[in-house]
Amino acid sequence: MGWAEALWEAVSPDLPDFSVEIVAEIDSTNSELMRRARAGRDEPVLLLAERQTAGRGRLGRSWQASAGESLTFSLGLPLAPQDWSGLSLAVGVAVAEMLGPRVGLKWPNDLWVEDRKLGGILVETASFTGAAQGGRYVVIGLGLNLAARPAEGLSTPPAALQEFWPGAQTAAVMERIGAPLVRAIREFEQVGFAGFRARFESRDVLHGREVSLSDGRVGRAAGVGGQGALLVHTAAGMITLTSAEVSVRPR
Ligand code: BTN
Repeated sequence: MGWAEALWEAVSPDLPDFSVEIVAEIDSTNSELMRRARAGRDEPVLLLAERQTAGRGRLGRSWQASAGESLTFSLGLPLAPQDWSGLSLAVGVAVAEMLGPRVGLKWPNDLWVEDRKLGGILVETASFTGAAQGGRYVVIGLGLNLAARPAEGLSTPPAALQEFWPGAQTAAVMERIGAPLVRAIREFEQVGFAGFRARFESRDVLHGREVSLSDGRVGRAAGVGGQGALLVHTAAGMITLTSAEVSVRPR
């Protein structure tokens, strides 16, 4: 049985309309599922593309990779958590835990290995007709480097899964992370970030380190709050970063 069928079998008892789609090429798996959601298609789906021509990252950045170099997929589903705060951190926790102890989390949602970027997560939501109160359609996109790639043009040097998982390819990685990822999102819907905070902190690569913020402030990272905000001690006191608009890097 292939990974797509195994994932479908594992997930569909819980999410009856779930489907898995694999395409050779698309602009962006996130863009495609957002387009569908805006057009009223709210069924749960995992869409994997072998190649994206306009892959997107956070803060308007792009996610560029050649075919076979990175794993790129998005999971879209209707979700109605009491509080959305920390969802992207929870997704990072679930993925990192399935990839092993070397994978750290760089707030808010990058996967890091030895201060290099292994992958990134892009969470977007759309409202949809027929949503239960408070429910939205959420699109969770993951880009994960499988093989070494050039560092040119990247603000953080890249890491690759194959450095510590020899021969890691789409099928094996999806077999490992697909079903646990869906389970983690359902868990988040029930318990929110509370179920993930300690797990995030145990992989928090910024903890205790001097950091600089994109708005020029500097400080020392001190973990995350109950809703996933990054805490930073600065000369002016403790600040709480919730905004996805601010980027943080170790100094
Ligand atoms: C980031 O590092 O800022 C997030 C990168 C997210 C990339 C993935 S690849 C699959 C999905 N489709 C996209 O266009 N982006 C996400």
